[in-house]
Amino acid sequence: MSILIIGGTGFIGRRLVPLLAQRGEEIICMDINPGTANFADLGKQARVIRGDVSQFDDVMAAMVNAKPTRVINLAYFLGSEHAPHVATKLNIIGMDNCFEASRLAGVSRVAYASSLAVSGEQKFYGDRLVTEDDFRHGHVQYAMHKIFNEWQAQDYREKHGLDITAIRPANVTGPDKIVGSVDHVFCITTPARGKPVSFPFKDAMRCPVHVDEIAEIFARVIMTDKPKHMAYNTGGQAISLGDLADIVREFLPDAQITFEKETGGKELSGNYMIDNSRLVQEFGVQYRPYRERVLQIINDIRREEGLPLVSDR
Ligand SMILES: NC(=O)c1ccc[n+]([C@@H]2O[C@H](COP(=O)([O-])OP(=O)(O)OC[C@H]3O[C@@H](n4cnc5c(N)ncnc54)[C@H](O)[C@@H]3O)[C@@H](O)[C@H]2O)c1
Repeated sequence: MSILIIGGTGFIGRRLVPLLAQRGEEIICMDINPGTANFADLGKQARVIRGDVSQFDDVMAAMVNAKPTRVINLAYFLGSEHAPHVATKLNIIGMDNCFEASRLAGVSRVAYASSLAVSGEQKFYGDRLVTEDDFRHGHVQYAMHKIFNEWQAQDYREKHGLDITAIRPANVTGPDKIVGSVDHVFCITTPARGKPVSFPFKDAMRCPVHVDEIAEIFARVIMTDKPKHMAYNTGGQAISLGDLADIVREFLPDAQITFEKETGGKELSGNYMIDNSRLVQEFGVQYRPYRERVLQIINDIRREEGLPLVSDR
């Protein structure tokens, strides 16, 4: 089948395209930055075209060109610092363009990235796992847009019968992550380069999940004809930055990771206790141990920097 991935040359998309190609699918990526991924080794199975998801004509032209049977939208502004007009155009109008063009092109299977950010801070729930059915307490720009996207999807489902699935990634990690939540990434990548790094709070909590796992989840979900639910939490490894620093020091004993304060970060932390049983049960997802992923990222960076690789002790 043919799958259109909007925003497909980004951090998650670059991993997703080869996974779908391995399954024998034909992929067309539409991205405003087409040059940030190289799929040359996939030959005719992956094509990249330039297009802006906030322009309906671009999305419709990509649909006519690709004639996809399934669509994934990953194009987004990560973070909440963006000018309202600009962010609304990409995050809200862009999502509507994707859903509306899918409808007009007769595509009924669509998946897109929501986020753990819809839940807001963990303190809203106390010390318990948060499920997809919990009230969404998110309140910053990024969270509000993701919450509204989930409502847009529900509206299209109810009024037009589109089968749209939201995947809510937790704090995605990987060597090339530079936007969104990055402290848990820099806690690994900066020491891997032999440089010092400092963070405000040792007890700040995160829920990292490796980008390879997220790409695999998108592949499994989009290949499924009728997922049982509209939204899936990916969950991940709940961990404090202090404990993550300790894992990094196991591999890099000289790592210079410092914290300005021991406490004060936990109550500010986003949702980190996440129930992903829905995803695990329906899609058989099993994550590799997080410690292994930390080592993988360290060595990805060291390879890139021409530094000696590190082995597990
Ligand atoms: N990375 C994370 O930690 C994380 C966590 C939760 C949710 N998500 C969500 O996953 C999705 C993908 O995230 P990512 O980490 O791959 O981000 P990314 O920024 O690396 O990728 C997004 C892609 O969209 C493209 N894009 C931006 N504006 C566009 C436009 N107007 N038209 C077409 N393409 C455009 C970018 O060029 C980029 O290739 C986003 O919706 C993000 O909110 C990511």
